Amino acid sequence: MYIKTFGCQMNERDSEIIEQLLAQEGYVPTAEPEGADVILINTCSIREKAEQKVFSLLGALRAEKANNPSLLLGVTGCVAQQEGEQIRDRMPHVDLIVGTQQIYRLPEMLERLRQRVTSKEIATNMETSFVIPPFQKLLADAPLSPAPLGFKRFVTIMQGCDNFCSYCVVPGTRGREISRPVADILEEVEILVNQGVREITLLGQNVNSYGTTNQVAAVQVTFPHLLRRVASIKGLRRLRFTTSHPKDLSEDLMRCFAEIEILCPHFHLPVQSGSNAVLQRMNRKYTVESYLEKVTALRAHRPDIALATDIIVGFPGETEADFQATMDLLNRVRFHSSFSFKYSDRPHTRSAGFDDKVAEEEKSRRLSVFQNRQDHICFERNSEYIGKEVDVMVESVNNGELKGRTPSNHIVHCAGADAHLLPGEIVPVQIDQAGKHSLKGIICAKH
Ligand code: 5AD
Ligand code: SF4
Repeated sequence: MYIKTFGCQMNERDSEIIEQLLAQEGYVPTAEPEGADVILINTCSIREKAEQKVFSLLGALRAEKANNPSLLLGVTGCVAQQEGEQIRDRMPHVDLIVGTQQIYRLPEMLERLRQRVTSKEIATNMETSFVIPPFQKLLADAPLSPAPLGFKRFVTIMQGCDNFCSYCVVPGTRGREISRPVADILEEVEILVNQGVREITLLGQNVNSYGTTNQVAAVQVTFPHLLRRVASIKGLRRLRFTTSHPKDLSEDLMRCFAEIEILCPHFHLPVQSGSNAVLQRMNRKYTVESYLEKVTALRAHRPDIALATDIIVGFPGETEADFQATMDLLNRVRFHSSFSFKYSDRPHTRSAGFDDKVAEEEKSRRLSVFQNRQDHICFERNSEYIGKEVDVMVESVNNGELKGRTPSNHIVHCAGADAHLLPGEIVPVQIDQAGKHSLKGIICAKH
């Protein structure tokens, strides 16, 4: 079986679950599509580019399917959710279309196709409850594969989103926001930690509103409560979370950065634009001023916090002055890193119907102006670490070259590493060089 995955962190976790479910059914992953019995494409539709790639890949796989008629070809994830009918009509060689909330049905659907009980399987309905079954049940149905789990994992704490930013497909493709029960989350983290996982990233579209949209426990639990409980699990060395919405960032959550030792000082807080007029049309529900206040407060609680953000350039109606306001914001906050995108119309979103679309060339120009400045700031920010001693969690050691990450999520390379160092171990490193995208350092002698 060959699984081609596109995209975002959200569906990286889904891909893992799919692999786990299908390993249990005897499917073995292969690196190449040639010779595979099943090809699944787990898709992301957040931006237009990702979706275009899916259709061209499906087009390219038509020949594969012609060569091997028993091959089963499936599309899962957001594009399947959103364009289910269109895929069926445009790509008749696709056998299986599975939406974001139906991946747990994959084994039975594949079985029906293999037994030729059906010739096409489509499941794109949305559920009204949390779709991830309790981890204990998932384990009973599909025990973790014998392959090592690795040292860091994502744990989903909520699904969907209720924010309806005017440019975004997520509320449409992933449905309403539903928080996962606390007990399930704690149990999953405990099992993972007992199996050697050392770093957990709690995952949701808007983790800051965890527990506020539906009752997840007899007593109302907020995201800071959840963080404190997860952090108390013995053996866990690092805790992260993603993603946050600035409007829901509470004082209590900021305090967590000062109080919880294993909570890493790295915060992804997407701002999207530095212009209040644009933020309003994006339906973001905060202002540049309130965002800056939160940045100041966060840094007061945790001075070494590394801030990352997302930016969209060329939103409909974005003027040169609006864009300059985004550049001003970048220069004021000096983010440690950012993900920046050209705006693209997405199906069924409000902004797709807005006038005043920005020309493609202008969007490209603004994107490169932004990215050049960000690259420069990244270099300056990285240089601030020179001379400092940081804890690096080992990711790999190859020919004496260690690659790992700091709590602030910077990648660090060190020469002369002991080949016995294992992924997940933490070593002190003295940083002596900085690049745009990573740091270099020397492993400190044992204290
Ligand atoms: N066009 C461009 N970028 C988008 N994003 C979401 N929707 C769009 C769109 N229509 C970006 C946002 C979000 C990130 C995951 O993708 O910056 O934070
Ligand atoms: Fe999309 Fe906005 Fe929800 Fe993020 S908060 S997933 S950008 S609707």
